[in-house]
Amino acid sequence: MFSRSAARTVSHARQFSSSAARQHKVAVLGAGGGIGQPLSMLLKLDKNVTSLSLYDIRGAPGVAADVSHIDADSTVKGYAADKLDEALEGVKVVVIPAGVPRKMSRDDLFNTNASIVRDLAAAVARVAPEAHLLIISNPVNSTVPIVSEVLKAAGVYDPRRVFGVTTLDVVRARRFLSEVTGAPTAETGVTVVGGHSGSTIVPLLSHNAHGKGVSGAAYDALVHRIQFGGDEVVQAKDGAGSATLSMAYAGAKFASTLLRGLNGEKGVVAPSFVKSDLFADQGVEYFSSNVELGPNGVEKIHPLGPLTASEEKLLAACLPDLKKNIEKGKAFVA
Ligand SMILES: NC(=O)c1ccc[n+]([C@@H]2O[C@H](COP(=O)([O-])OP(=O)(O)OC[C@H]3O[C@@H](n4cnc5c(N)ncnc54)[C@H](O)[C@@H]3O)[C@@H](O)[C@H]2O)c1
Repeated sequence: MFSRSAARTVSHARQFSSSAARQHKVAVLGAGGGIGQPLSMLLKLDKNVTSLSLYDIRGAPGVAADVSHIDADSTVKGYAADKLDEALEGVKVVVIPAGVPRKMSRDDLFNTNASIVRDLAAAVARVAPEAHLLIISNPVNSTVPIVSEVLKAAGVYDPRRVFGVTTLDVVRARRFLSEVTGAPTAETGVTVVGGHSGSTIVPLLSHNAHGKGVSGAAYDALVHRIQFGGDEVVQAKDGAGSATLSMAYAGAKFASTLLRGLNGEKGVVAPSFVKSDLFADQGVEYFSSNVELGPNGVEKIHPLGPLTASEEKLLAACLPDLKKNIEKGKAFVA
């Protein structure tokens, strides 16, 4: 039986290890935007975030003052446009939803967002070179290569720490499969691989027990909805913006998963768009697939597993487009 003092020691050790594991300062760049605001709120609620640094070219101090009143233990500070370096000091994880949302195609935004992301990545390279970067700004297929090239040029690139956030595709796939089959969302988790726009999004429905049963026209419609679900939101908002609330949820979900990995939790796996060898022999340097997350970021990239003929076809359509998007990103900073 435990003596009282032994029990006290165990409980003290537990407290110590959990508080020691929670020292994560997280920055949101673009915190004043449609995604940035609810994302900041959700991160404030994440018990693995001890300090939140909110930056935007407009409005971040206001968002920070607002979010800071939420009764969670983390501290929140907002930074004005000229305070980017201060915002990044000591930061472990940087989430970037800065940029303009798309009107119709994600490629429309390329030039604006490419410059924004390039400049923010340069600041991260300078001030927080060991931070993990979570890229939400579209087009993710190109912005992730842009960030990687900027970090390479600064001599601080570690492919284990750069992530394209594709979680919204995974979130949509789970929800839409649930709608089609009537199964609860707890049972409709779907791995989504490839990239993050239209035909580069490849849901592996055959890997889910409920997804396996969807065929014919219903399968085609479901795949199309997962690939182009973002259009439903753009259209419903009359072209005035794209997904913000579901994206904030997805961004916070991925950040929280990464933080669990950084804290040493075992078996933390999530799909993300990362530097990957899976299709490098076909000239596709970055690819989203299930990734094991650990204290250094990406610990292991999982292979895709068996694919059906339909999934092989989707993958064949994805790879050339994805390759072009990646090359476009690299060329932007060459
Ligand atoms: N990865 C995904 O699944 C996904 C989903 C939806 C939207 N997005 C993308 O996320 C981005 C943001 O979307 P939104 O709806 O929040 O747009 P928004 O216009 O509402 O917000 C963008 C914010 O970025 C800020 N900003 C612009 N330049 C900046 C800079 N240099 N530094 C810091 N902040 C800057 C703006 O001031 C604004 O507050 C877009 O690129 C959008 O396409 C990605």
